[in-house]
Amino acid sequence: MSISIRCCTFVIQGTCKAYLQQLMRDKKNIFAIVGSASSNSANQKLVEKIADLSSKNFNLTIYNRLKFLPHFDPDLSIGNVPKEIVEFRQNIESADGIIICTPEYVFSMPSGLKNALEWCIATTIFSNKPCGLITASASGEKGHEMLQLIMKTVMANYTDKTSLLIQGIKGKFDREGKLIDTEVKNKLENFIDAFTKLINENDTKSLS
Ligand SMILES: Cc1cc2nc3c(=O)[nH]c(=O)nc-3n(C[C@H](O)[C@H](O)[C@H](O)COP(=O)(O)O)c2cc1C
Repeated sequence: MSISIRCCTFVIQGTCKAYLQQLMRDKKNIFAIVGSASSNSANQKLVEKIADLSSKNFNLTIYNRLKFLPHFDPDLSIGNVPKEIVEFRQNIESADGIIICTPEYVFSMPSGLKNALEWCIATTIFSNKPCGLITASASGEKGHEMLQLIMKTVMANYTDKTSLLIQGIKGKFDREGKLIDTEVKNKLENFIDAFTKLINENDTKSLS
């Protein structure tokens, strides 16, 4: 009897381990939100660069439609939720990880991004969700602090290594939109490594 129970335990443990290994090999679905309101956005270019550098690890969906989301309305946040918000929330919920890449506007975060996050407050979609938080701006310190505070409030899972402040962002790209700053490229590579680890740790935790 006890031998067969032990065998079963081994089989289950082996299956779980194999499943976990498979999970870690699979490409992760990342939903990347661009906070900028500009069409020629350096943050958009940065996310495109991340997509390029991480193409072996991530299937990255770039979301740059914050300006099309309706203005936050608490009366519609739980019932009668607008379809654009339902879709936006589903994208977050189904992703393995979220990247927010944003400039600072007037010592704060852009209103479009704040608006989108307000629509998420009544939900738990960010709880324990692996997140990468990037502020890429002229200066960006205050906006970055605010982004971290808000994401902590919604219980997102991010670390110092998946949180990045890139200052002087406009000068990091050439006229053709090519990233010319090797230090920033290194930072992005370290960010991708740390973010991948965070997602894998999250998978391990959710199975144990
Ligand atoms: C309305 C507005 C307000 C801004 N305020 C700030 C600011 O407070 N701090 C800062 O570092 N940059 C500020 N900037 C400059 C942006 O950091 C810079 O334009 C950056 O490149 C924007 O990112 P993007 O190219 O992705 O749009 C502001 C830009 C705009 C359009």
